[in-house]
Formats: sequence, C-alpha cells, structure tokens
Amino acid sequence: IAKLMFPDGQFGWMITRYEDAVEILRDQRFVKDMSKMFGSEYQSIFTSNMLFSDPPDHRRLRGLVQQGFTPKLVEAMREHIQQIADGLLDAVEGQDTMELIDDYAFPLPIIVISEILGVPVSDRDKFRVWSNSIVGAANAEEGPDVYLHMQQFTEYLAQWFEQLRKQPGDDLISRLIVAEDAGERLSEQEIYGVVSLLIIAGHETTVNLIGNGVLSLLQHPDQLKKLQDNPELIKGAIEEMLRYNGPVEFSTSRWAGEDLEFKGHAMKRGDLVIVALDSAGRDGDQFTDPDLFDITRERSRHLAFGHGIHMCLGAPLARLEGEIAINTLLRRFPNIKLREDANELEWRPGMIVRGVKEIPLS
Ligand code: HEM
Repeated sequence: IAKLMFPDGQFGWMITRYEDAVEILRDQRFVKDMSKMFGSEYQSIFTSNMLFSDPPDHRRLRGLVQQGFTPKLVEAMREHIQQIADGLLDAVEGQDTMELIDDYAFPLPIIVISEILGVPVSDRDKFRVWSNSIVGAANAEEGPDVYLHMQQFTEYLAQWFEQLRKQPGDDLISRLIVAEDAGERLSEQEIYGVVSLLIIAGHETTVNLIGNGVLSLLQHPDQLKKLQDNPELIKGAIEEMLRYNGPVEFSTSRWAGEDLEFKGHAMKRGDLVIVALDSAGRDGDQFTDPDLFDITRERSRHLAFGHGIHMCLGAPLARLEGEIAINTLLRRFPNIKLREDANELEWRPGMIVRGVKEIPLS
C-alpha cells in the first residue's frame, strides 16, 4: 500500500498486493461516483454508467445490460465468433506475413461488439480513434484532442440513436432506447454513458488479451507447443494469460468516501485509490513462481477482470473470444513466429490498458 502525493497536494494510494486489492475492491467505503464526492461538474456523458456509479444506481445501470451478457447467451455466440475468426484468417491465408493486432486481434472483438450493440461494423475505424483517445492510449499521430473526439463520438451516437428510435432493431442499443422511451430505468444521458462504455471496453481490452496472450506463447515456446498439442487446455491457458500479461493494468479510480483506516493507513475523504491489477496477479504470496508463465498452473485466480460489484460484465464474452481466437490461430497457422525483422515491440501509451502496438508474424 503505497502513499502517493500529487503536485496539487492531493493524496492517493496505490494497492499492489493481491489480498489488499481484493479487500479494497469489495469495500463499499471506497466510492466511484466522482460527482457525489466532488460536485456535479464532474458528471459527464462518459461517466453516466455502471463503472462510475455506486449502489443503488450501479445495480440499475448494470441490470439491463447484464441480461445481454450472461454466460449462456454468450456461449450461443460460439459458432458465429468462430466464423468471424476463420473469415479474418482466410483474408491473410497464403501471405508470408500478418500483423496480429490489425489483421486479427483488433477486428475480431470489434465485429462482435458492433453486432451485439447494432452499430455499423463499417464505422469501426472511427470508433477505434475515439476510444483509443478517450482511454488515453492513442498514438501521437492519431491526435491528442480528446475533447474533440468525445464530441465527435457523442454526435455520432446521437444520430445513430435517432435512427434506432425510428426503426428499432433486435440489438442491445435498441432495447435500451425502447426501455428509456417506456420510462424504464435508464435516462438518455445514461444510455450514452452505457453505450460508450461498452464500445470503449469492447475496443480496448480483448484485443490485448489476444495480443498479449499470443505474445506470451511465442516468448515461451514450450508452452506454445503444449497448447498446440493439447488445444483442450485453452480455458486454463486463457486464465494464465490474463494473470501473467493482463490487458488492464490498473483499476479505474476509487475515492475514500469518508475519513477511514485501511490496514493501519489513515486515509482522508477524497483520497484517490488505484489498484494495480496486473501486479496483484504476480503476488508471490498467492502464486507459486509468480513470474513463471505456465498454462497448466493449478490456480490462476487473477484480478484481471477486477473484483466485487464492478467485476467485468464482459468477462464471459472476452474469455470466449480469447479461446476461439487463439486456438483457431494456432490450428490454422501452426508455424507462426515473431517476424525476424520485427523491431523491438512497442507498448501502447496510457495507464489503464496494456498492450503492444504491433505484433508482426511470419
Ligand atoms: C469492468 C477488464 C472486456 C465491459 C471491467 C473491470 C476490469 C475489466 C478490470 C473493472 C474495473 C474497475 O473495477 O475499476 C476487462 C478485460 C477484458 C474486458 C481484461 C478483456 C479481456 C470487456 C468487454 C466488455 C466489458 C468485451 C463489453 C462487452 C465491462 C463493463 C464494466 C467492466 C460494462 C463495468 C462493470 C461495472 O462497473 O459493474 N472490465 N474487461 N469488458 N467491463 Fe471489462
């Protein structure tokens, strides 16, 4: 538990050990809604969703959406996700090289989430720029103007919602809009908040589960071979990839909601608390040989999806996408390796998401 001091004199806390992380993520004295803590000027379209809310709003905001992401519904998408994976690999079949992120790891989850939400897959390049920018993981050349991107994103959604109001489909956004029009549960601002969170979460995370996961395999040829020989090990392998090289490095912010004591540390109301999720996954008190990548590890109980009430709602979907994507890649291209002329791998900027910009394969 490390105390941080910011240039403006505010204090914060970084939690790096597994047990402390679990306790903080469960402890309702730490709050997520900034507007309750610091005033309504901190409320925006992008925070009007479950991730930045506390009970009871949290349950209301999560409820409607969660119905669309149950493990059973997600499992029903298996065949379709398989077709998407095969289609993307068909497109690079016969080439000497491929770029794992752009050709495969990025488009696969985007196509899936766009279809679930009902946004046009053809607009995926725009979503990529906006969501990279909003989570602070944009490349410099994509432009640093996060406010402009937020505005463009909101305008796009406004037009899209207008269209769905006139002609609702069988997609998640249409269902949220119909529920709003019927005076149920979600306000218009909250629909923007929830939809933008799902688009951003769908763009910034699973891509890095696939990218970081394949990279871990390529860097550990014995584990790669084990998985190729035993594809049924994939479920455990995915958990180990999430523990060893997780796509979300830090939790989003929490604040001490009152003056309190946590494990002997006096925290003041308003202190910022951040949980280092990937670090918790390498805690030697929890995991034997924590820096060893072992896809048959007995217990990979990591915090890559968070913990407690904000635990990732998309986890069943992300796990299924990861399983299909990685096993299909290894089955169809059993001899893949990092391209010899690949320059040193470059990690994307930003604090929350963790992934490599490009993974060139031959
Ligand atoms: C929350 C990780 C994929 C939707 C979270 C949190 C983490 C996380 C760590 C909690 C953050 C915190 O407590 O501060 C991941 C990882 C993914 C992934 C590692 C991929 C491997 C997805 C996908 C979706 C999604 C594909 C959308 C379909 C959400 C939502 C929340 C969330 C809506 C907020 C839940 C709440 O506050 O109740 N995710 N995520 N995630 N994730 Fe994911």
